[in-house]
Amino acid sequence: MRTYQTEYQRSVAQPDVFWAEQASRIPWFTPPRVVLNHDDQGHARWYGDGELNTCYVALDHHVETGRGDQPAIFWDSPVTDARRTLSYRELRDQVAVFAGALAGLGVEKGDRVVIYMPMVPEALIAMYACARLGAVHSVVFGGFAARELAVRIDDAEPKVIVAASCGVEVDKVLPYKPIIDQALELSAHQPSACVILQREQLRAEMGVIDHDWQALIESAAPVDCVSVKGTDPLYILYTSGTTGKPKGVMRDHGGHAVALHYSMEHIYGMAPGEVFFSASDIGWVVGHSYIVYAPLIRGCTTVVYEGKPVRTPDASAFWRVIEEYQVRAFFTAPTAFRAIKKEDPDGQGLQKHDISCLRTLFLAGERLDPPTFHWLDDLLDVPVIDHWWQTETGWPIAANLQGLDPQPVKPGSATFPVPGFDVQVLDTQGEPATPDEQGSVVIRQPMPPGCLTGIWRDPQRFHSAYMAAYPGYYLTGDGGYFDADGYLFIMGRTDDVINVAGHRLSTGEMEEVVGSHAAVAECAVVGIQNSLKGQVPVGLVIPKDGFDGDTDALERELIALVREKIGAIASLKQVLVVSRLPKTRSGKILRKLLRSIADGEEFGIPSTIDDPSSLQDVQEAMVEHQVGAADRARQV
Ligand code: COA
Ligand code: AMP
Repeated sequence: MRTYQTEYQRSVAQPDVFWAEQASRIPWFTPPRVVLNHDDQGHARWYGDGELNTCYVALDHHVETGRGDQPAIFWDSPVTDARRTLSYRELRDQVAVFAGALAGLGVEKGDRVVIYMPMVPEALIAMYACARLGAVHSVVFGGFAARELAVRIDDAEPKVIVAASCGVEVDKVLPYKPIIDQALELSAHQPSACVILQREQLRAEMGVIDHDWQALIESAAPVDCVSVKGTDPLYILYTSGTTGKPKGVMRDHGGHAVALHYSMEHIYGMAPGEVFFSASDIGWVVGHSYIVYAPLIRGCTTVVYEGKPVRTPDASAFWRVIEEYQVRAFFTAPTAFRAIKKEDPDGQGLQKHDISCLRTLFLAGERLDPPTFHWLDDLLDVPVIDHWWQTETGWPIAANLQGLDPQPVKPGSATFPVPGFDVQVLDTQGEPATPDEQGSVVIRQPMPPGCLTGIWRDPQRFHSAYMAAYPGYYLTGDGGYFDADGYLFIMGRTDDVINVAGHRLSTGEMEEVVGSHAAVAECAVVGIQNSLKGQVPVGLVIPKDGFDGDTDALERELIALVREKIGAIASLKQVLVVSRLPKTRSGKILRKLLRSIADGEEFGIPSTIDDPSSLQDVQEAMVEHQVGAADRARQV
């Protein structure tokens, strides 16, 4: 019997042999002969001389081998009171026609297409249509504001934008078209066309470069899959870094398909024909990997859910979906269950549904905090599995492999490194940390297939962000430790990235927006603990000398500014005007200290602090604004 240990050892001792075997499990047009190569920075390149197409692997291949009538997508939209099922054949045919429509607009292999859509089947159709043409999609999350969209348009330089007329949230319809129009006013790059899916909840007014989705497909002819190299780009997905400019994480066709197939079988324990439900959004990496691509690559059915964990209509929504579609594995973020627990602490909603079909619950996006783990573990009869990953890796780095050799669960731990990931914890000197000693979590090269191949058009940033800190290792940006049994505990970011309701955001970027206000001299934005969202940002600002306006009004303006420039998902609800900020003598703001004060943790006053009395200002402002306090009171 294969054990986790033997599989893992094989994967790190002979990665090329290991991943050659896995590559043979997906259909290639030309199987790769060279499995592993390295670029000039020493970063792994997988399957460079193989030829395939991800759309073929996920759709056409299954239709050709007898899965044509099996549902590929169950779309469930409580916010619009709609449902739709698409079989593999229907999905393949609709993708082929939409690919023909994009080709008609001039989209060719290597061209970029920005997709700005909510959780509708057409979003998946657009993504697969790009893959079919060898074009590179870049999906932008619907909660981002026009400026964020513009930054991505300027970086990716898409030939075409594909969007919907609106998104639908719990109690509101969000017009998307004005956001696109505004983004195009802000961006230097202009696409040659926009395709708009008109939704009945709100039809968009069309402009000169706009094409109606429906009209376009009525006149389009289906096209076949274009053959691409294993290393050719499938998509760019922007993620928050430590600066205002997001990083365009690039993913390839070959490594991605092989890795996702491996993960579905070994991590998620999914067999072809079974139903997989990932309650995320296509705008995030979880959505890309485990709503759009992995389930279909494996021949499973994916549930596309346009709703929330609560309020659509209540806290039993997930249980309803699991029962209705006979879901075998369910995946969401811990924050979603904290929201459910808040509304339904005793899990009453579960009593209304028979979820005996469910085999495993998976959680990721942030650490599965032990209280949420225990709540779920008590409530459910299935394993509750935390697993750790990030946009850059595209699939889990550490997990409890349900399809290989399940291990006892330790609350707070993501269990063991996944085969292919040589995970190490290094101390500040770059030496291996001892068991239970926290350090910087890194991955020794070569990274396995499926991980980022670079940052779009910015090799220098790729090097400085990930490769420079510890030569030969990829820097994850997370801190953590291994315990004496080899279980990995990921404890949080070591940089300015924060995790708000499972959404990755940059406090550095928020600082840039707050600092751009005419009345602001200096500012800091820090992520503080929040019992629902995990973390939320809080801003502290020093007004410019001579500012004699209303500080309450300034605080409100800054909150509105961040919402306008970044989007509602930034969730910045508190900004505090202070007269001083704690700094080192060299002028660096002591952000960690600010976090500790807000979180009510004990802290020592660093010897490098310039003016210890500045702490009093900050503490007083936090007490006055009840920063963190209301939340702490809720947790008691
Ligand atoms: N399009 C437009 N706006 C969006 C949006 C979208 N796709 N998603 C969220 N927003 C808006 C919300 O409407 C809200 O606006 P508001 O300030 O006007 O109310 C704001 O962004 C903040 O959203 P969110 O942080 O999601 O808070 P919430 O209170 O609406 O919901 C949760 C809280 C926990 C229920 C929700 O965040 C959730 O389901 N999280 C799971 C996240 C997840 O799956 N992440 C993927 C990683 S696995
Ligand atoms: P994203 O790129 O949006 O997927 O966010 C990745 C970051 O989320 C990681 O670097 C971690 O900080 C955090 N994260 C995701 N999953 C986990 C987990 N299971 N445990 C701890 N942190 C996690």
